[in-house]
Amino acid sequence: MKNLKSYNDILPTIYDRVYVDESAVLYGEITIGDDSSIWPMVAARGDVNYISIGKRTNVQDGSVLHVTRKSNNNPLGNPLIIGDDVTIGHKAMLHGCKLGNRILVGMGAIIMDGAEVGDDVFIGAGTLVPPNKKLESGFLYVGNPMKKARPLKQVELDFLTVSAKNYVLLKDEYIEQHS
Ligand SMILES: CC(C)(COP(=O)(O)OP(=O)(O)OC[C@H]1O[C@@H](n2cnc3c(N)ncnc32)[C@H](O)[C@@H]1OP(=O)(O)O)[C@@H](O)C(=O)NCCC(=O)NCCS
Repeated sequence: MKNLKSYNDILPTIYDRVYVDESAVLYGEITIGDDSSIWPMVAARGDVNYISIGKRTNVQDGSVLHVTRKSNNNPLGNPLIIGDDVTIGHKAMLHGCKLGNRILVGMGAIIMDGAEVGDDVFIGAGTLVPPNKKLESGFLYVGNPMKKARPLKQVELDFLTVSAKNYVLLKDEYIEQHS
């Protein structure tokens, strides 16, 4: 794929049945697990640190993924680590943060360096998650800056897996129709 580009001789590593739209651009040390999908116009740079994306995770259109370099004050820098079954809505901005499993990142949300999101979390559209904040499992967060809004309902918890599964089916159709 022409849109997988090296940085310091490291190319993205793409596991099985992954869909990367041809308009997305990925640089450097990026790993993408089985059945994940990267949609149109996503920009991901694993240059000054690494990006790890789990299985069955979808990164929707126009999202930006980046990292922070190592420094004296911050010896490990901030890689970007995203777990399994995560739905990242359109035009989200994820920078040097860590996301667990079964999370919905709403459209246009911004998650900043050092923030950590537990498993089974909803982040509302347009939410700003400031640096180093910890988001507790099982809750909805909304607002700028974010506030913990309420515990998730069972139907929302179930939706997290349903959304990931729907995107696995959708990317299979795209692979069939565009390869
Ligand atoms: C937050 C969200 C989950 C709805 O939660 P909810 O509890 O059902 O919220 P409601 O629609 O009942 O609204 C409750 C209040 O929250 C506000 N609200 C809703 N979504 C909000 C958001 N993203 N940020 C801030 N406030 C929001 C509503 O305006 C309402 O405020 P009010 O009580 O002052 O009128 C939903 O609006 C959302 O942001 N979903 C993300 C969808 C998405 O981006 N998906 C990815 C693409 S597939």
